[in-house]
Amino acid sequence: MPLSDLLLITGATGKLGRVLTPKLLAAGHRVRVLTRRPETARELYGDRVEIAEGDFSVPASLPAALDGVSRALLLSPISERLAKDQIALVDAAKAAGVKRIVKISGSDWTVGTSFSGDAHKRVEDHLAQSGLDYVAVRPTAWLQVSLAAVAAQIRRGEAIAARHGARVGYVDIRDIADVAINQLLAPKLAASPLVITGPEALAIPDIAALATRITGRPVGVSSAVAGLPPGVEGFEAEVVKQFFAVIAQGGAAGLTDTVERVLGRKPRSVEDYLAEELG
Ligand SMILES: NC(=O)c1ccc[n+]([C@@H]2O[C@H](COP(=O)([O-])OP(=O)(O)OC[C@H]3O[C@@H](n4cnc5c(N)ncnc54)[C@H](OP(=O)(O)O)[C@@H]3O)[C@@H](O)[C@H]2O)c1
Repeated sequence: MPLSDLLLITGATGKLGRVLTPKLLAAGHRVRVLTRRPETARELYGDRVEIAEGDFSVPASLPAALDGVSRALLLSPISERLAKDQIALVDAAKAAGVKRIVKISGSDWTVGTSFSGDAHKRVEDHLAQSGLDYVAVRPTAWLQVSLAAVAAQIRRGEAIAARHGARVGYVDIRDIADVAINQLLAPKLAASPLVITGPEALAIPDIAALATRITGRPVGVSSAVAGLPPGVEGFEAEVVKQFFAVIAQGGAAGLTDTVERVLGRKPRSVEDYLAEELG
Protein backbone atom coordinates (compact mmCIF):
# COMPACT_ATOMS: atom_id res chain seq x y z
CA MET A 1 0.00 0.00 0.00
CA PRO A 2 1.48 3.39 -0.94
CA LEU A 3 2.41 5.63 2.01
CA SER A 4 0.20 8.31 0.47
CA ASP A 5 -2.95 6.21 1.09
CA LEU A 6 -5.02 7.57 3.97
CA LEU A 7 -5.80 5.29 6.93
CA LEU A 8 -8.67 6.00 9.32
CA ILE A 9 -8.06 4.80 12.88
CA THR A 10 -11.05 4.66 15.20
CA GLY A 11 -10.37 4.22 18.92
CA ALA A 12 -7.01 5.98 18.46
CA THR A 13 -7.25 7.63 21.89
CA GLY A 14 -7.99 4.32 23.65
CA LYS A 15 -5.77 1.57 25.00
CA LEU A 16 -5.07 -0.30 21.76
CA GLY A 17 -5.16 2.84 19.63
CA ARG A 18 -2.42 4.47 21.71
CA VAL A 19 -0.15 1.54 20.91
CA LEU A 20 -1.11 1.09 17.28
CA THR A 21 -1.31 4.69 16.04
CA PRO A 22 2.29 5.70 16.91
CA LYS A 23 3.57 2.60 15.10
CA LEU A 24 1.78 3.63 11.90
CA LEU A 25 3.06 7.20 12.21
CA ALA A 26 6.62 6.01 12.85
CA ALA A 27 6.41 3.96 9.65
CA GLY A 28 5.44 7.11 7.72
CA HIS A 29 1.76 6.38 7.06
CA ARG A 30 -0.92 9.03 6.60
CA VAL A 31 -3.35 8.67 9.50
CA ARG A 32 -6.67 10.28 10.28
CA VAL A 33 -8.27 9.59 13.64
CA LEU A 34 -11.97 9.67 14.44
CA THR A 35 -12.55 11.02 17.93
CA ARG A 36 -15.06 12.82 20.11
CA ARG A 37 -12.06 14.38 21.92
CA PRO A 38 -9.96 16.26 19.36
CA GLU A 39 -7.90 17.95 22.08
CA THR A 40 -6.85 14.55 23.47
CA ALA A 41 -5.88 13.33 20.00
CA ARG A 42 -3.89 16.53 19.48
CA GLU A 43 -2.08 16.04 22.81
CA LEU A 44 -1.24 12.45 21.86
CA TYR A 45 -0.23 12.90 18.23
CA GLY A 46 0.35 16.61 17.63
CA ASP A 47 0.04 17.57 13.99
CA ARG A 48 1.22 14.16 12.78
CA VAL A 49 -2.41 13.03 12.33
CA GLU A 50 -5.48 14.46 10.68
CA ILE A 51 -8.24 14.75 13.26
CA ALA A 52 -11.86 14.08 12.32
CA GLU A 53 -14.06 15.16 15.19
CA GLY A 54 -16.96 12.74 15.10
CA ASP A 55 -19.01 10.13 16.86
CA PHE A 56 -20.18 6.69 15.70
CA SER A 57 -23.60 7.59 17.07
CA VAL A 58 -23.84 10.80 15.01
CA PRO A 59 -24.19 9.52 11.43
CA ALA A 60 -23.75 13.01 9.97
CA SER A 61 -20.19 13.13 11.37
CA LEU A 62 -19.03 10.00 9.51
CA PRO A 63 -18.86 10.93 5.78
CA ALA A 64 -16.29 13.70 6.35
CA ALA A 65 -14.22 11.38 8.56
CA LEU A 66 -14.21 8.73 5.82
CA ASP A 67 -13.70 10.99 2.82
CA GLY A 68 -10.61 9.92 0.88
CA VAL A 69 -9.87 7.01 3.23
CA SER A 70 -8.45 3.84 1.70
CA ARG A 71 -8.42 1.48 4.70
CA ALA A 72 -9.87 1.72 8.21
CA LEU A 73 -9.40 0.18 11.63
CA LEU A 74 -12.73 -0.34 13.39
CA LEU A 75 -12.80 -0.35 17.20
CA SER A 76 -15.31 0.86 19.76
CA PRO A 77 -15.75 0.04 23.42
CA ILE A 78 -18.11 -2.53 24.92
CA SER A 79 -21.53 -0.94 25.17
CA GLU A 80 -25.14 -1.61 24.30
CA ARG A 81 -24.49 0.52 21.19
CA LEU A 82 -21.50 -1.43 19.88
CA ALA A 83 -23.21 -3.26 17.01
CA LYS A 84 -25.35 -0.31 15.94
CA ASP A 85 -22.39 2.11 16.03
CA GLN A 86 -20.00 -0.16 14.19
CA ILE A 87 -22.56 -1.13 11.54
CA ALA A 88 -23.17 2.60 10.92
CA LEU A 89 -19.42 3.05 10.40
CA VAL A 90 -19.26 0.08 8.01
CA ASP A 91 -22.14 1.43 5.92
CA ALA A 92 -20.64 4.92 5.84
CA ALA A 93 -17.25 3.45 4.88
CA LYS A 94 -18.77 1.53 2.01
CA ALA A 95 -20.59 4.63 0.78
CA ALA A 96 -17.33 6.61 0.97
CA GLY A 97 -15.43 4.07 -1.15
CA VAL A 98 -13.22 2.66 1.63
CA LYS A 99 -11.57 -0.52 0.37
CA ARG A 100 -10.69 -2.45 3.51
CA ILE A 101 -11.76 -2.69 7.15
CA VAL A 102 -9.78 -4.37 9.92
CA LYS A 103 -12.17 -4.88 12.80
CA ILE A 104 -11.02 -5.39 16.36
CA SER A 105 -13.57 -7.91 17.52
CA GLY A 106 -14.30 -9.67 20.79
CA SER A 107 -12.32 -12.63 22.08
CA ASP A 108 -13.26 -15.80 20.21
CA TRP A 109 -14.60 -17.43 23.38
CA THR A 110 -16.97 -14.50 24.05
CA VAL A 111 -18.90 -15.14 20.83
CA GLY A 112 -22.03 -17.11 21.70
CA THR A 113 -21.37 -16.68 25.43
CA SER A 114 -21.73 -12.93 26.08
CA PHE A 115 -23.69 -9.86 25.03
CA SER A 116 -20.55 -8.20 23.72
CA GLY A 117 -19.23 -11.23 21.83
CA ASP A 118 -22.60 -11.53 20.11
CA ALA A 119 -22.62 -7.81 19.25
CA HIS A 120 -19.15 -8.14 17.71
CA LYS A 121 -20.36 -11.16 15.73
CA ARG A 122 -23.29 -9.14 14.34
CA VAL A 123 -20.79 -6.59 13.04
CA GLU A 124 -18.64 -9.37 11.55
CA ASP A 125 -21.73 -10.79 9.80
CA HIS A 126 -22.58 -7.33 8.47
CA LEU A 127 -19.02 -6.93 7.17
CA ALA A 128 -19.26 -10.34 5.48
CA GLN A 129 -22.37 -9.20 3.64
CA SER A 130 -21.03 -5.73 2.83
CA GLY A 131 -18.79 -6.77 -0.03
CA LEU A 132 -15.91 -4.89 1.60
CA ASP A 133 -12.49 -6.47 2.01
CA TYR A 134 -12.36 -7.16 5.76
CA VAL A 135 -10.88 -9.20 8.54
CA ALA A 136 -12.06 -9.55 12.13
CA VAL A 137 -9.23 -9.77 14.63
CA ARG A 138 -10.37 -11.67 17.74
CA PRO A 139 -7.75 -11.22 20.45
CA THR A 140 -8.09 -13.14 23.67
CA ALA A 141 -7.73 -11.36 27.06
CA TRP A 142 -5.27 -8.47 26.78
CA LEU A 143 -2.31 -8.78 29.12
CA GLN A 144 -2.05 -5.07 29.86
CA VAL A 145 -5.75 -4.89 30.79
CA SER A 146 -6.25 -8.26 32.49
CA LEU A 147 -3.07 -8.26 34.56
CA ALA A 148 -2.65 -4.56 35.38
CA ALA A 149 -4.19 -4.99 38.84
CA VAL A 150 -2.12 -8.13 39.42
CA ALA A 151 1.11 -6.31 38.53
CA ALA A 152 0.13 -3.47 40.90
CA GLN A 153 -0.51 -5.94 43.74
CA ILE A 154 2.88 -7.55 43.19
CA ARG A 155 4.60 -4.13 43.17
CA ARG A 156 2.92 -3.31 46.50
CA GLY A 157 4.26 -6.58 47.93
CA GLU A 158 0.77 -8.09 48.27
CA ALA A 159 -0.39 -11.60 47.52
CA ILE A 160 -2.34 -11.82 44.25
CA ALA A 161 -6.13 -11.96 44.57
CA ALA A 162 -7.57 -14.22 41.89
CA ARG A 163 -10.93 -13.77 40.17
CA HIS A 164 -10.85 -17.37 38.98
CA GLY A 165 -8.51 -20.33 39.11
CA ALA A 166 -8.44 -21.01 35.40
CA ARG A 167 -5.73 -20.71 32.79
CA VAL A 168 -5.87 -17.89 30.20
CA GLY A 169 -3.84 -17.46 27.01
CA TYR A 170 -3.21 -13.73 27.67
CA VAL A 171 -2.01 -11.77 24.64
CA ASP A 172 0.19 -8.67 24.68
CA ILE A 173 -1.55 -5.54 23.36
CA ARG A 174 1.54 -4.79 21.21
CA ASP A 175 1.08 -8.10 19.39
CA ILE A 176 -2.57 -7.25 18.72
CA ALA A 177 -1.47 -3.87 17.34
CA ASP A 178 1.20 -5.50 15.15
CA VAL A 179 -1.26 -8.05 13.71
CA ALA A 180 -3.86 -5.34 13.06
CA ILE A 181 -1.25 -3.14 11.34
CA ASN A 182 -0.07 -6.10 9.28
CA GLN A 183 -3.64 -6.65 8.12
CA LEU A 184 -4.22 -2.97 7.38
CA LEU A 185 -1.14 -2.86 5.15
CA ALA A 186 -0.84 -6.40 3.70
CA PRO A 187 -1.46 -6.87 -0.02
CA LYS A 188 -3.86 -9.70 0.83
CA LEU A 189 -5.93 -10.22 3.96
CA ALA A 190 -5.86 -13.36 6.09
CA ALA A 191 -9.05 -15.40 6.37
CA SER A 192 -11.46 -14.01 8.95
CA PRO A 193 -11.61 -14.35 11.92
CA LEU A 194 -8.01 -14.10 13.05
CA VAL A 195 -7.95 -15.50 16.59
CA ILE A 196 -4.96 -14.14 18.51
CA THR A 197 -3.52 -15.48 21.76
CA GLY A 198 -0.26 -15.37 23.62
CA PRO A 199 2.20 -18.30 23.61
CA GLU A 200 0.95 -20.07 26.77
CA ALA A 201 -2.07 -20.31 29.04
CA LEU A 202 -1.37 -19.46 32.66
CA ALA A 203 -3.39 -19.45 35.88
CA ILE A 204 -2.80 -17.06 38.79
CA PRO A 205 -0.51 -19.50 40.69
CA ASP A 206 1.67 -19.75 37.54
CA ILE A 207 1.85 -15.95 37.45
CA ALA A 208 2.75 -15.82 41.15
CA ALA A 209 5.58 -18.30 40.47
CA LEU A 210 6.89 -16.14 37.59
CA ALA A 211 6.69 -13.03 39.77
CA THR A 212 8.57 -14.84 42.55
CA ARG A 213 11.37 -15.63 40.12
CA ILE A 214 11.48 -12.11 38.64
CA THR A 215 11.34 -10.18 41.93
CA GLY A 216 13.43 -12.63 43.94
CA ARG A 217 10.89 -12.60 46.78
CA PRO A 218 7.96 -14.93 47.42
CA VAL A 219 4.72 -13.79 45.78
CA GLY A 220 1.69 -15.62 47.11
CA VAL A 221 -1.91 -16.09 46.02
CA SER A 222 -4.52 -14.60 48.32
CA SER A 223 -7.75 -16.42 49.12
CA ALA A 224 -9.64 -13.12 48.66
CA VAL A 225 -11.72 -13.06 45.49
CA ALA A 226 -10.90 -9.96 43.44
CA GLY A 227 -13.79 -7.68 42.54
CA LEU A 228 -14.52 -6.20 39.14
CA PRO A 229 -11.85 -3.87 37.75
CA PRO A 230 -12.26 -0.22 38.87
CA GLY A 231 -14.64 1.81 36.75
CA VAL A 232 -16.42 -1.23 35.31
CA GLU A 233 -20.13 -0.79 35.93
CA GLY A 234 -23.60 -1.11 34.37
CA PHE A 235 -23.80 -2.99 31.09
CA GLU A 236 -20.04 -3.55 30.98
CA ALA A 237 -20.12 -5.10 34.47
CA GLU A 238 -22.78 -7.59 33.32
CA VAL A 239 -20.63 -8.47 30.33
CA VAL A 240 -17.46 -8.86 32.40
CA LYS A 241 -19.33 -11.26 34.72
CA GLN A 242 -20.26 -13.29 31.63
CA PHE A 243 -16.57 -13.33 30.63
CA PHE A 244 -15.47 -14.56 34.06
CA ALA A 245 -18.03 -17.36 33.95
CA VAL A 246 -16.53 -18.62 30.67
CA ILE A 247 -12.95 -18.12 31.82
CA ALA A 248 -13.61 -20.01 35.07
CA GLN A 249 -14.63 -23.02 32.98
CA GLY A 250 -11.34 -22.92 31.09
CA GLY A 251 -12.93 -21.25 28.04
CA ALA A 252 -10.07 -18.74 27.57
CA ALA A 253 -7.22 -21.26 27.76
CA GLY A 254 -7.06 -22.04 24.03
CA LEU A 255 -3.94 -21.07 22.07
CA THR A 256 -3.34 -20.25 18.41
CA ASP A 257 -0.21 -19.70 16.31
CA THR A 258 -1.68 -16.59 14.66
CA VAL A 259 0.95 -14.11 15.86
CA GLU A 260 3.79 -16.29 14.62
CA ARG A 261 2.00 -17.13 11.36
CA VAL A 262 1.15 -13.50 10.54
CA LEU A 263 4.21 -11.72 11.93
CA GLY A 264 6.89 -14.41 11.55
CA ARG A 265 7.97 -14.06 15.18
CA LYS A 266 6.93 -15.44 18.53
CA PRO A 267 4.24 -13.65 20.58
CA ARG A 268 5.33 -11.78 23.70
CA SER A 269 4.81 -13.72 26.91
CA VAL A 270 3.39 -13.00 30.36
CA GLU A 271 6.94 -13.41 31.67
CA ASP A 272 8.18 -10.66 29.29
CA TYR A 273 5.39 -8.40 30.50
CA LEU A 274 6.03 -9.04 34.19
CA ALA A 275 9.78 -8.52 33.74
CA GLU A 276 9.05 -5.09 32.20
CA GLU A 277 6.52 -4.18 34.89
CA LEU A 278 8.43 -5.48 37.91
CA GLY A 279 12.04 -5.38 36.83
N1 LIG B 1 -9.52 -5.77 26.88
C1 LIG B 1 -9.61 -6.98 26.38
O1 LIG B 1 -9.11 -7.98 26.98
C2 LIG B 1 -10.30 -7.18 25.04
C3 LIG B 1 -10.29 -8.46 24.48
C4 LIG B 1 -10.90 -8.65 23.23
C5 LIG B 1 -11.52 -7.58 22.60
N2 LIG B 1 -11.54 -6.35 23.19
C6 LIG B 1 -12.26 -5.27 22.50
O2 LIG B 1 -11.49 -4.09 22.45
C7 LIG B 1 -12.37 -2.97 22.36
C8 LIG B 1 -11.91 -1.92 23.37
O3 LIG B 1 -10.64 -1.44 22.96
P1 LIG B 1 -9.82 -0.43 23.92
O4 LIG B 1 -9.77 -1.05 25.28
O5 LIG B 1 -8.57 -0.06 23.23
O6 LIG B 1 -10.83 0.80 23.98
P2 LIG B 1 -10.87 1.96 25.06
O7 LIG B 1 -9.53 2.13 25.70
O8 LIG B 1 -12.09 1.77 25.90
O9 LIG B 1 -11.10 3.23 24.13
C9 LIG B 1 -12.29 3.42 23.42
C10 LIG B 1 -11.98 4.21 22.14
O10 LIG B 1 -13.20 4.27 21.39
C11 LIG B 1 -13.47 5.61 21.06
N3 LIG B 1 -14.92 5.82 21.12
C12 LIG B 1 -15.74 5.46 22.13
N4 LIG B 1 -17.02 5.81 21.84
C13 LIG B 1 -16.96 6.43 20.62
C14 LIG B 1 -17.95 7.03 19.79
N5 LIG B 1 -19.24 7.05 20.14
N6 LIG B 1 -17.55 7.55 18.61
C15 LIG B 1 -16.24 7.54 18.24
N7 LIG B 1 -15.27 6.99 18.99
C16 LIG B 1 -15.62 6.44 20.16
C17 LIG B 1 -12.78 6.46 22.09
O11 LIG B 1 -12.43 7.69 21.45
P3 LIG B 1 -12.79 9.16 22.02
O12 LIG B 1 -13.13 9.03 23.47
O13 LIG B 1 -11.53 9.92 21.77
O14 LIG B 1 -13.94 9.61 21.17
C18 LIG B 1 -11.54 5.62 22.43
O15 LIG B 1 -10.50 5.94 21.53
C19 LIG B 1 -13.78 -3.48 22.64
O16 LIG B 1 -14.51 -3.56 21.45
C20 LIG B 1 -13.53 -4.85 23.25
O17 LIG B 1 -14.60 -5.75 23.01
C21 LIG B 1 -10.93 -6.12 24.38
